[in-house]
Amino acid sequence: MADEERRTFLKLCIHGLGAVFAAVLGVPVVSYLIDPRHRQAAAGEMRPVSGIRLTEITELNRPVQGVIRDVRRDAWTLHPNDVIGRVWVVRSGPGPRDLRVFTTVCPHLGCSINVNAEPTSGFTCPCHNGQFLCDGNRVRRDGYTNPAPRDMDSLEFDIDPENPDQLLVRYVNFKQAENEKIPRT
Ligand code: FES
Repeated sequence: MADEERRTFLKLCIHGLGAVFAAVLGVPVVSYLIDPRHRQAAAGEMRPVSGIRLTEITELNRPVQGVIRDVRRDAWTLHPNDVIGRVWVVRSGPGPRDLRVFTTVCPHLGCSINVNAEPTSGFTCPCHNGQFLCDGNRVRRDGYTNPAPRDMDSLEFDIDPENPDQLLVRYVNFKQAENEKIPRT
């Protein structure tokens, strides 16, 4: 084989190998990026609540906690199934949509609100003793100053039309220490 032909042959081999490596590395990356499971939900999008089955929440005024998961990114790492929020779900009547859904984030300074030892009596925030009833209203009573400036923050919800067990929530973070419910932007 002449020198010129050998050089052309080697060039073709190198380009061919480059194309093979690009395909081997590129196909999984592209399929990962276009897979909807790895896309972050747009702000304000309805998200499924995990950890609860709606048809099993039958008792009135007994809060049950559910979890919102989504893609979370920090500087270098993508966490595809991270907990990004929690909600309290309270049945208020016998109908499938007779529910109240609240974020667990306290409207005072953002701690996580717990359900009371006697769940039907409502919620207490462990940080500064903010207290709320099962309907989310802040407790007002003589001799007690509630540090929470407003009621618990309710969230818009829906039920998956194809799965009566699946609660969907428009998960929103609200500003703390405000008298009004103001979404964070
Ligand atoms: S953060 Fe909840 S009462 Fe202060």
